[in-house]
Amino acid sequence: MTQTPKTVVGIDDIAVHVPKLFISTVDEFARARGIEPAKLARGIGVEKMAVPDAHEDAATMAASSVLELMRKNDLSPEEVGRIYIGTESGVDEAKAIGTYVIGMLERVYGPGSFQECSTVEFKSACIATTHALENVVYWLKAEENENDFSGADRESGQSRGRVGIVVATDVARYELNSPGEYTQGAGSVALLVKRDPRLLALDPVVGIFTRDENDFFRPIGMKCAVVNGKYSNLCYLAAMDGAFYSYKKRALGRGMIRLEGGDCTTDHLSHIIFHIPYPRMAEYASASIFRREWRDLPRWQEVEEEIGPEPRIEDFEGQKEYLSAEGDYKRRFSKSDKFLEVYGKKVKPSTLISSVVGNIYTGSIYLGLASLLEQNLLAPGERVGLGSYGSGCSAAFFSVTVQTGIRSMKTGGFLEMLNERVEISLEDYQHLHEGERRESVISPSGEFALMEIDRDGYRRYDFVG
Ligand code: HMG
Repeated sequence: MTQTPKTVVGIDDIAVHVPKLFISTVDEFARARGIEPAKLARGIGVEKMAVPDAHEDAATMAASSVLELMRKNDLSPEEVGRIYIGTESGVDEAKAIGTYVIGMLERVYGPGSFQECSTVEFKSACIATTHALENVVYWLKAEENENDFSGADRESGQSRGRVGIVVATDVARYELNSPGEYTQGAGSVALLVKRDPRLLALDPVVGIFTRDENDFFRPIGMKCAVVNGKYSNLCYLAAMDGAFYSYKKRALGRGMIRLEGGDCTTDHLSHIIFHIPYPRMAEYASASIFRREWRDLPRWQEVEEEIGPEPRIEDFEGQKEYLSAEGDYKRRFSKSDKFLEVYGKKVKPSTLISSVVGNIYTGSIYLGLASLLEQNLLAPGERVGLGSYGSGCSAAFFSVTVQTGIRSMKTGGFLEMLNERVEISLEDYQHLHEGERRESVISPSGEFALMEIDRDGYRRYDFVG
């Protein structure tokens, strides 16, 4: 009996939108906050943070990334069946951000052009877009047998099938003068999700970890997050570890990854993209996962030769002494040659764009994907791991396989675009941050803009040509 081949679903293309304004962390900002620039550039890993102008918000950024994705893929609105948006910077407590986005897109494509497209706003801190992606994939699989004729192909009678667009859009905002301030940023990433994608096919295994935590949250009505910074790092690491081991168990269990003598699961992932609230966090996550993966393997001998054996609790008088030795060992491991070699190849390249954009919350992990594409680092057949984290807290570890279509795709050029952004003064940044500036720093041109919020709170947007 012949078996129907399973449909491959995944990411076909990606578009990124970042505000035109930025503030450098290492100049006036560092001086004003009394922080050594090296701490921000190396200790945190961020040199520039994107700042939204007065006419920008999470909705305008989302509309901009979707418009770019549609234009570069020559998509018509009738072909788009779903626009699912992950955000924690929603502009309304009830109305889905996607309806504003569709309203803006219809200013370009014509009234009613998206009326057969549904949209949902996903909220789950920074992991929201990963859940949106999972749901668009389910929709595509469910729709696969429907005789669905998209408008573009109605005349020929050929069904290309509809596509879904998954969008991440956020403004990461913390209190001025707080330790979170230098981990801000803003931007949107749109993913084209379809059958037989050119770029990445989603593998059938996802590892999940969820637990109620108070590491980072934003009660209704508050503009900035309440954050227990150092504790949030620990929650991230624990959740990522849990999700990775859940993924590993499932990937090995179903034979998707087969281990041979001396190797481990991460050896089978050519790259790993972790959620990047700031680049150093991806390094901490890598150190935690590689250390646990390697400690029972022959290669651990090389690590021990360089930094000595791991501290054992029974060798210490009390827990305090043990924890201090453990913290010290962690630091030495993350500076060891073996770790730096693997981290430098598999993880660090994904942090390139984040280092000049900052945290864009739910889109940060997909900004990591854009970084790999920008540097042309993905080759057909490679498996890439993705570790998504959302405060509160939840993590998902999953993987994708690079498709041959990647060869036909034009990549690069985004970093040059970022270099054309405009640096603003600390004063302008602070006014924009506090919502005290009504006038745009750069008048909108060729982009979506928030024109007015009326007396009822309804937001009027337009496309400014
Ligand atoms: P901090 O007080 O700046 O931390 O807070 P620090 O003083 O420990 O410094 C950080 C690093 O800089 C350390 O490196 C220092 O040694 C180093 P390490 O010791 O760990 O290797 N350093 C220097 N390096 C070079 N030269 C120097 C120097 N001085 C010090 N002169 C923190 C950092 C991230 C906690 C803070 O910025 C914060 O609260 N950020 C916001 C929360 C956050 O991003 N948490 C991350 C995990 S939670 C998450 O990812 C979810 C999130 O995206 C939201 C969501 O899910 O929606 C945030």
